[in-house]
Amino acid sequence: MRNKHGVFFTKAVCGFICTLGMTAGIGSTVFAQTDADTDNSASFSTDVIYQIVTDRFADGDSSNNPSGDIFDKNDMKKYHGGDWAGITQKIEDGYFSNMGVTALWISSPVENIMTLDPTNQCASYHGYWAKDFFETNEAFGTEQDFTNLVDTAHENGIKIVIDFAPNHTSTAEFAGYTFPEDGALYRNGSLIGTFSNDSAGIFNHESWTDYSTYENGVYHSMYGLADLNQQNATVDSYLKEAIDKWLDYGVDGIRVDAVKHMSMGWQTNWLSSIYEDHSVFVFGEWYNGGTGNDSQMTTFANESGMSLLDFRYANAVRNALGTESATMEDLYQVMVDTASDYEEVNDQVTFIDNHDMSRFMTLADGNGRDVENAYVLLLTSRGVPTIYYGSEQYAQGTTDPYNRGDMTSFDENSTAYKVISALSPLRKTNPAAAYGTTQERWMNDDVLIYEREFNGSVILTAVNRNQNQSYSISGLYTDLPAGNYSDVMNGLLGGNGITVSGSGAVSNFTLGAGASAVWEFTKTDAADVAIGNVDPGMGIAGNEITITGRGFGDKAGSVAFGDTTASVVDWSDSRITVQIPGVAAGEYAITVTNAAGSSSDSYAGFDVLTGEQVSVRFMVNNASTDYGTNVYLVGSVPELGNWNPSKAIGSFFNSTASIASYPTWFYDVSVPAGTTIEYKFVKIDGSGNVTWESGSNHVVTTPADGTATVCVDWQ
Ligand code: NOJ
Ligand code: NOJ
Ligand code: CA
Ligand code: CA
Repeated sequence: MRNKHGVFFTKAVCGFICTLGMTAGIGSTVFAQTDADTDNSASFSTDVIYQIVTDRFADGDSSNNPSGDIFDKNDMKKYHGGDWAGITQKIEDGYFSNMGVTALWISSPVENIMTLDPTNQCASYHGYWAKDFFETNEAFGTEQDFTNLVDTAHENGIKIVIDFAPNHTSTAEFAGYTFPEDGALYRNGSLIGTFSNDSAGIFNHESWTDYSTYENGVYHSMYGLADLNQQNATVDSYLKEAIDKWLDYGVDGIRVDAVKHMSMGWQTNWLSSIYEDHSVFVFGEWYNGGTGNDSQMTTFANESGMSLLDFRYANAVRNALGTESATMEDLYQVMVDTASDYEEVNDQVTFIDNHDMSRFMTLADGNGRDVENAYVLLLTSRGVPTIYYGSEQYAQGTTDPYNRGDMTSFDENSTAYKVISALSPLRKTNPAAAYGTTQERWMNDDVLIYEREFNGSVILTAVNRNQNQSYSISGLYTDLPAGNYSDVMNGLLGGNGITVSGSGAVSNFTLGAGASAVWEFTKTDAADVAIGNVDPGMGIAGNEITITGRGFGDKAGSVAFGDTTASVVDWSDSRITVQIPGVAAGEYAITVTNAAGSSSDSYAGFDVLTGEQVSVRFMVNNASTDYGTNVYLVGSVPELGNWNPSKAIGSFFNSTASIASYPTWFYDVSVPAGTTIEYKFVKIDGSGNVTWESGSNHVVTTPADGTATVCVDWQ
């Protein structure tokens, strides 16, 4: 169907009207909720995450272990029996709580194929080969087992994050092989489509990606994994409804697999639909092997509406402490660079190893002190720290699947476990860990001493990576108030106490070979009103968002988006929940004013969207360009840059055979649903010179839901 503006609707427009304005209960009621509570699923600033490969952690119920050729405890490529019942038991045993862990990231819970990949005899034990996103992976448990896991976690102050892989189903393409499942996608047991008989366009059919460009990675398959076409309206609603099902169990967060391989426009539209009903923390995996700024990755972190796993930070720690191919000064420089590149560096999710790289112990050639010192850095640095299961027991392993071994022990006396136990609680107790800035105080090639600070609270961390040489530390200054401070780890890694004078000078001391120490001051009295974080960082009017920080007071004050007051749902000294007010879409600075009339500094950059979002594919024909010039889109809504070409959407793609090739360009964009938008394409050259289309503006009325494609000629 085509309307007068030249839009093809892939789904009929229906008359759904969004109802806003649930009335908020406020007044002077005192709410006990704090930023550190488990029911704060919006913000993970006070959490320490523990990443579990469900199949490899604990087998709590052998009756659900798969039978046949996909199960073999002695084969790293097959199922080993780990399940939700096993994780539940370890929660009850206190293994996580005693470590200070407050969130578990588990493997994708959805039903996977239960046949071996004929190319490598590998089973779906990792959870990345989905078959039915509405059913459980029976090897991990039943719906009841999942409910028990979520409920037990919450009773123990632990949040649950699920891995989720909306990019693909299972492998379907590898020359010379036939795949028994053919990448099939099901919904509650009913077939939606298969890869090789796909008249409905459920999948992209562009062969394997060569990773050469962003575009190539989005629309081609990752080594033959049947690549879902999220722009297909059936797939779009399937993935929105599927994630809703899991969030309705009470899941607190989502780790989104392979975000680099799906369009940002579709993902923003998916997130916006999630945030309408669920204020949860979402972070994506944009794989990156380096420490430098990748502009597409940074744009995604700042614009998509979700956080990212912080590969730059991980690689910097691995280089400085693992391989020692970089210095501690290099590590600090990455902290500085990321703090300026990421709009919300404290919301990025940090780690030192994971299931796609060598374990830290292996990287460090079996040197346990390197692992322990890496945890000291991880747990005191900005970002939400994640411990990869088993690395606290010094597990080893190079590549997948050998970095995904069974838990070797649950020893609560390993030094690494004790380091984590000592430092994790700082996330809850000292807001400098959760929200603080980062500043270097003393460094050389081997030593990094840095300070985190928030609203008068301070954490000072010193790490000496050189296990053969001690260093005398003189001329060190800190913002810790005058006094004596003992090492938070009680000398576990050779650290000592320090004395701070009234001027902030730290008396000279020796930082032993391979030693590290952490000193802290938590300000408890008369804190200023200070915002630490706002989560999620985007949304539509009426959504609930969470503001965390300190000094808000026990009595409700007010919250403003620009000049507009928001309606308050909950209020406590460290956490406020408000509804996004019905302001015009755009970027807003948020300010909190306490009941006594003191205001916080404003927290910049909150994105109010125009309304519910849909993913629209914009295409323009005959847009010829000189080499180095690219096509972008601007238009009359903030989602299209509000006519400001420096905020234009793109650069557009032009090299996907089944969609469009130069001089036709296309891009999938998240835009307000059911809205009439004016727009134009622009050409921008390598120096930033902008050439506008001539003539009058193009006009499109977007569908109320579903997806759409709009195609015009360059004018
Ligand atoms: C990234 C995951 O972390 C990795 O383990 C997986 O194989 C790919 N995405 C595909 O899902
Ligand atoms: C494709 C490139 O992506 C673009 O930058 C260039 O302008 C056109 N080819 C024309 O050479
Ligand atoms: Ca089992
Ligand atoms: Ca893809």
